[in-house]
Amino acid sequence: MKHLVNPLDLSIDEIQEILDLAKDIERDMKKYSKVCEGKKLATLFYEPSTRTRLSHEAAMLNLGGSVLGFSSADESSASKGESISDTIRTVSCYSDIIAIRHPKEGSALIASEFSQVPIINAGDGGHEHPTQTLTDLLTIQAEKGRLDNLTVGLCGDLKFGRTVHSLIKALVRYPNIKFVLISPEELRLPNYIVQEVLKKNNVPYIEEVRLTNALPNLDLLYMTRVQKERFFNEAEYIRMKDFYVLDSNKMKLADKNMLVLHPLPRVNEIHPEIDNDPRAVYFKQVQYGVYVRMALIIKLLDIQV
Ligand code: NCD
Repeated sequence: MKHLVNPLDLSIDEIQEILDLAKDIERDMKKYSKVCEGKKLATLFYEPSTRTRLSHEAAMLNLGGSVLGFSSADESSASKGESISDTIRTVSCYSDIIAIRHPKEGSALIASEFSQVPIINAGDGGHEHPTQTLTDLLTIQAEKGRLDNLTVGLCGDLKFGRTVHSLIKALVRYPNIKFVLISPEELRLPNYIVQEVLKKNNVPYIEEVRLTNALPNLDLLYMTRVQKERFFNEAEYIRMKDFYVLDSNKMKLADKNMLVLHPLPRVNEIHPEIDNDPRAVYFKQVQYGVYVRMALIIKLLDIQV
């Protein structure tokens, strides 16, 4: 049985199979509308979510399956003190596949050790978010036409932003990827990722504080929100939260084909005035997220289509 806890749980070939299937789903969604009939997805969300929970649920419903679950820890027996392992042992009696989001790093890995059904990590603290990465890869491949030969700017909260951590891990496996890590000093990419992922794989990167310096050289810019919920100190969050604001003036510095991605939710880091710029693909990204999660569910349930 396979789980998706970390983006490296999937080989490059398996990722490509998922992206290809997602593209076929986009072409002809009806063809897949019954393939999960009788199957149940449980969504166990101990942390807030709009897109990740609802897109997993929409994905399962689009496949003809059904969904159950909870959307906050207060609604579950976690509020009575139940451990993740006991909850998972229980919910895997009720469902065929489980998507879990939890504030603790490593929670999805624990879940996978106790589950009788496939586990999807829908975000474990500031650690990983592999289904967002599949969404990002599908968006890049569909909108840019390739996953190699890219200069990728990652901007914002690179310290706590799990989407960035997972995307870096996935992208370093493609040829000729370069990163520009754009963050304030306080929110730099954690050293363990610099050492164990970038340096270990000889991936070129530069660190940059000013977005305007980085913009002219990027093929894509991945903006992120400052992760308020992971700060220990509110004053520090307030100091950091509006460090970057991408607006139409800054977009003039960017290449005419540079894509802007964002996992969303956005706060102030992208001004709505650029939403209609053809380079801004963050709402298309949301739609790709449903197709890719449909494809992932099909693969993890080993359904032949
Ligand atoms: C991201 C997350 O939860 O990590 N959101 C999402 O799943 N699309 C990004 C964020 O919350 O900033």
